[in-house]
Amino acid sequence: MIQTLNLQKLFATEEVETTALNGINMEVKDGEFVAIMGPSGCGKSTLLNILGLLDNPSDGEYNFYGTAVANMTERQRAQLRKGSIGFVFQSFNLIDELTVYENVELPLLYLKTPADERKSRVETALERMGIMHRRNHFPQQLSGGQQQRTAIARAVVAKPKLILADEPTGNLDSKNGEEVMKVLSELNDEGTTIIMVTHSPYDAGFAHRIVNLFDGKVVTENFHV
Ligand SMILES: Nc1ncnc2c1ncn2[C@@H]1O[C@H](COP(=O)(O)OP(=O)(O)OP(=O)(O)O)[C@@H](O)[C@H]1O
Ligand SMILES: [Mg+2]
Repeated sequence: MIQTLNLQKLFATEEVETTALNGINMEVKDGEFVAIMGPSGCGKSTLLNILGLLDNPSDGEYNFYGTAVANMTERQRAQLRKGSIGFVFQSFNLIDELTVYENVELPLLYLKTPADERKSRVETALERMGIMHRRNHFPQQLSGGQQQRTAIARAVVAKPKLILADEPTGNLDSKNGEEVMKVLSELNDEGTTIIMVTHSPYDAGFAHRIVNLFDGKVVTENFHV
């Protein structure tokens, strides 16, 4: 379970100071599928980056499955991130110089997974995302939907308990977007916790709960079945 208490995030440049998060209290239970919505600039990506241990809050507490993140070293945070969290971004963020197979293999190399296990895990993930036949292609040679499925394969290959997705369908047409949402729902049905930022009410309908942000604050939470 993850839990935040009065999370604050301030960005200071020479000219301006921006309060991106202004006291976020949030709790996500194991196995939940939560959508985060709200207007552009309200802090959604900032929140997701902090939840994903990619960035630190300016103030407040963040508890990640029983560990106070503030007390951890950068190294411990990186280790936790590699082993427990998968990321999916709007712009796919694949490495252009690596093939589909190599992109998906990368998290396992970081985790020093033995070669034979790596091979079977990568192949399982590629099969599952329906991109096995594109394993030797480079990202630029794929459709947007295939790139995002590759990114999801990379996100799940290390079997993370948490997937963080920032507008995962934002660059996809409705057919490919629907496929991505189905995959995320399946992963959630199998027990993976999912937190997804989206502008799409349709995509948010796949979640159990919608957290609405405005100006760096949680304004409402809606539950549905
Ligand atoms: N690295 C940064 N330096 C300075 N300001 C930043 C930085 N990152 C984000 N901000 C500011 O923090 C606020 C929240 O940004 P954030 O990216 O979290 O918004 P968002 O809700 O994800 O928006 P969008 O829907 O457009 O993606 C914005 O005002 C943004 O300009
Ligand atoms: Mg954003």
